[in-house]
Amino acid sequence: MKKYLKGILATTMVLSMTAALAGCSGTTSETPASDETAEGGETKDTLIMATSADFPPYEYYENQEIVGIDAEIVKAIGEKLGYEVVIEDMNFDSIISAVASGKADLAMAGLTVSEERLQSVDFTDSYATSQQVIIVKEDSPITTVDDLFAEGANHTVGVQTATTGDIYTTDDIEAAGLGTVERYTKATDAIAALTAGKIDCVIIDSEPAKSYVAANEGLKILDTEYVTEEYAIALAKDSELTEPVNTALQELIADGTVQSIIDKYITAE
Ligand code: ARG
Repeated sequence: MKKYLKGILATTMVLSMTAALAGCSGTTSETPASDETAEGGETKDTLIMATSADFPPYEYYENQEIVGIDAEIVKAIGEKLGYEVVIEDMNFDSIISAVASGKADLAMAGLTVSEERLQSVDFTDSYATSQQVIIVKEDSPITTVDDLFAEGANHTVGVQTATTGDIYTTDDIEAAGLGTVERYTKATDAIAALTAGKIDCVIIDSEPAKSYVAANEGLKILDTEYVTEEYAIALAKDSELTEPVNTALQELIADGTVQSIIDKYITAE
């Protein structure tokens, strides 16, 4: 956990809030270290969340601020546990190492739980289910997911670097000799390449796909899905935060807070 220097006023305010929260939830463990330094009035425990803010409706910029489902869930967790949350935007392919090395306390980034990632980080329970889908131009000859994997297929597929879309297509398309994978640091750049006709499709998570298709003329999502996945919060292996963060998440799921945050950003079809 990082400590940030804070103004006395802000610290006092947050401390009393923390005390109130601790009181009503009966929390006794994990007293923020700032309680001890309250006399000095200078520090406040901060949770650094790593994300890649190119992924609406989970994390994206609105008036220079990172908003979205993940941004709101982490703030609710911070409030419950008495931490101030600072969201740090970075390239997606840096997120897991930022958490594993302790540069960030946790990550929320529409981040899929995978066996490979579990080698380097811990995950909380899942808070959302998602699918990998295919975005094409409206007049694309690709009409189903199977077209990508058909014998003799030779498409250029765009993905965000180090995402599960990258990992799957590297195996299923590139290694299988069924086409080329173009990797982009930011999801937005993959979409721009598709719009510009540089690639044949983009493989990305379903809700961001809907947001991008709504915001860009001439694109559509294929009806068939590629892979189903679960999103969760990543923390350093054996982090002392995993248990409290997971408990807070479970409570926010149980009391309907998580669903109401999701409903705010995703209208049910
Ligand atoms: N769910 C996919 C994964 O975990 C993609 C996540 C991309 N997230 C982002 N914020 N750009 O690999």
